[in-house]
Amino acid sequence: MSVWARHAVLEKNSIFLVIGILIVIAIGGLVEIVPLFYLKSTIEKVDGVRPYTPLELAGRNIYVREGCYNCHSQMIRPLRDEVERYGHYSLAAESMYDRPFQWGSKRTGPDLARVGGKYSDEWHRDHLRAPKSVVPGTVMPAYPWLEQTELAYARIADDLKVHAALGVPYTGEMIENAAADVRVQATTDHPDAESLAKRYSKAQARDFDGDPRRITEADALIAYLQLLGTQVNFKLYDDKANIR
Ligand code: HEC
Repeated sequence: MSVWARHAVLEKNSIFLVIGILIVIAIGGLVEIVPLFYLKSTIEKVDGVRPYTPLELAGRNIYVREGCYNCHSQMIRPLRDEVERYGHYSLAAESMYDRPFQWGSKRTGPDLARVGGKYSDEWHRDHLRAPKSVVPGTVMPAYPWLEQTELAYARIADDLKVHAALGVPYTGEMIENAAADVRVQATTDHPDAESLAKRYSKAQARDFDGDPRRITEADALIAYLQLLGTQVNFKLYDDKANIR
């Protein structure tokens, strides 16, 4: 049988043709994708990025629940106008513990990847309760229930466990102390604040929602917002990477 006659078998039988096409596409796809798993530079290791504390993780869940991503992205592109407005462009490592990631592409409001530390907790409180009270022209909706609703964190340890199963380096100790760590981080002058900081480097512990009697959803969401984009020291990073 000549080569052409053999090829005719494929051309005359659609099932064989489909299988043949799939094999060819699979080889092409593997050649493109497999090297990414072996290249060191795909996810560059960056100092300072740690898993979310249980309180921050609970805040992130509220961010997702309320659909904040419908109006806010969390990825600063390496373009001059973006970097001048929002700060250093986002690194892949900065969202390596995000399951699912919140990069987004819709910006009705500004990018939030580096909003941590930009405003006071009080500003966030006012802004979430009534955005127009701090930014008169805003179209952002109000979320007044966040500071009125007690945070449901009884099962936060399960959440850490799921993340651990997905590869986030939560230790047994972190999982065991998850609910206690929520209380420690949302309180001022807690005697266990040091062990929280040991587990999660530079974790900020304070009364985020301005109501020391209760731990509310606003506590969690503001703790999360205040962390965003603050983990990497970009002065050290740029010196090391020789970017100027
Ligand atoms: C309908 C679109 C919309 C939704 C949904 C939305 N926002 Fe906004 N957001 C905006 C707009 C527009 C602004 C810019 C004006 C302002 O500051 O209010 C903004 C600004 C902000 C800012 C200040 C950013 C900065 O750098 O000045 C924060 C923080 C913020 N939003 C958080 C949130 C959170 C948290 C949620 C979910 C609970 C949320 N937003 C949901 C539209 C939205």
